[in-house]
Amino acid sequence: MTSWQDVDTYAKTWVKEAGAMIRASFSKVLDIQTKSNRNDLVTNMDKETEQFFIEKIKTTFPDHSVLGEEGLGDRIQEINGVVWIIDPIDGTTNFVHQQRNFAISIGIYENGIGQIGLIYDVVHDELYHAIKGKGAYLNDTRLAPLDHVEVKDAIIGINATWVTENRSIDPSLLAELVKDARGSRSLGSAALEISYVTSGRIDAYISLRLSPWDFAGGKVLLEEVGGVATTLRGKELNLIGENTVLVAKPGLHQEILKKYLNDGNW
Ligand code: IPD
Ligand code: CA
Ligand code: CA
Repeated sequence: MTSWQDVDTYAKTWVKEAGAMIRASFSKVLDIQTKSNRNDLVTNMDKETEQFFIEKIKTTFPDHSVLGEEGLGDRIQEINGVVWIIDPIDGTTNFVHQQRNFAISIGIYENGIGQIGLIYDVVHDELYHAIKGKGAYLNDTRLAPLDHVEVKDAIIGINATWVTENRSIDPSLLAELVKDARGSRSLGSAALEISYVTSGRIDAYISLRLSPWDFAGGKVLLEEVGGVATTLRGKELNLIGENTVLVAKPGLHQEILKKYLNDGNW
């Protein structure tokens, strides 16, 4: 039987090691390339970090699989057995432009069930971590269960793209939400924004297009403090392929879904 405690200990050590390598890269010249378009950046550090995890995982846990953003791991059609879902650098644009506000994100799933979540804010040395059923932590501090909050008192994490003309949603739906909320923020790293919901720094996070490696770690963390993560139509998130994502405190999740997203009928 898998000892999640052991897996977690290895994963944490590797995440810290990878973080140190990324910090060390700040003084070196990056090799920056584009992927699907000129705003979709990838660097040598994204690829080297993913490769670092794959080598560690395959040596220590040869029967585990890896689904990584840069595609250097396994070709995964279904989450069977133990799968590490890894975003080596979430927030690559911030990494390149700001040298901050990016994270390493890891979700370890067994047959589709999240068992471990790790999100490491490399520059602030903040490690969010959780083992299913054992609570979520920020470094050594256990995170409290999330309190109820209404939209009028909430800070919503959302990128301005989704309240302007776009191909995914009628922008007026989310514009109403942004107007009614106390404030909105966009950090530029989905993994960090979900961590921020987990620790109560923001109250909800919305994206119309995320991949499994953007939210896999965060979903495990969030559920440990009673938060809810679904699609914007209130459906379960799919670990293979892209999703719309609504992450929020429990009552707030319901309020946003019902009042602003018409219970998913849009
Ligand atoms: C991106 C970031 C960004 C989100 C994008 C993601 P990357 O991940 O999480 O905040 O809006 O949808 O693709 O490409 O930096 O790993
Ligand atoms: Ca990402
Ligand atoms: Ca990435």
